[in-house]
Amino acid sequence: MSATNLTIELRVNGREVRAEVEARTNLADFLRDQLALKGTHVGCEQGACGACTVLLDGRAVRSCLVLAVQADGSEVLTIESLAGPNGNLHPLQEQFHKHFGLQCGFCTPGFVMTTFWLLSRFKDLTEREIREAISGNICRCTGYDGIVDAILEADRTWQRDNLPF
Ligand code: FES
Ligand code: FES
Repeated sequence: MSATNLTIELRVNGREVRAEVEARTNLADFLRDQLALKGTHVGCEQGACGACTVLLDGRAVRSCLVLAVQADGSEVLTIESLAGPNGNLHPLQEQFHKHFGLQCGFCTPGFVMTTFWLLSRFKDLTEREIREAISGNICRCTGYDGIVDAILEADRTWQRDNLPF
């Protein structure tokens, strides 16, 4: 360990990870640059867009605002954790696809992870509740209607089996 690096141990998408990180490295950059998990997107880098949303110990967080060292000892889930072993889409991803809840896709991992957190905890949500829950995620392509439709149908149809938290 160098003077400026710290050793962290955490679980990422079910895998034990031990790594050295600079104290200033944020979780988004750690996931992307050191673990090659490029599905977590970085937009604003200041907590405003939600593109970098991941789950940290079951809570949706903006990984650009969390230092990697703060995730030491934690469980992190990224968008890569959702698809099946053969690359088949998760039911939430299928709904985004079905309802045209994405265009360029830059915001999509953040929306899907926010949705995963939301629907893991709450059921039978109204459109208004969904719009409020995703208000911290910005999409500049879709106009949001497809995203809301995707989440509404996912809420009705997703069998919430084997949740990881
Ligand atoms: S990149 Fe983290 S909130 Fe925008
Ligand atoms: S699909 Fe392009 S920013 Fe949301």
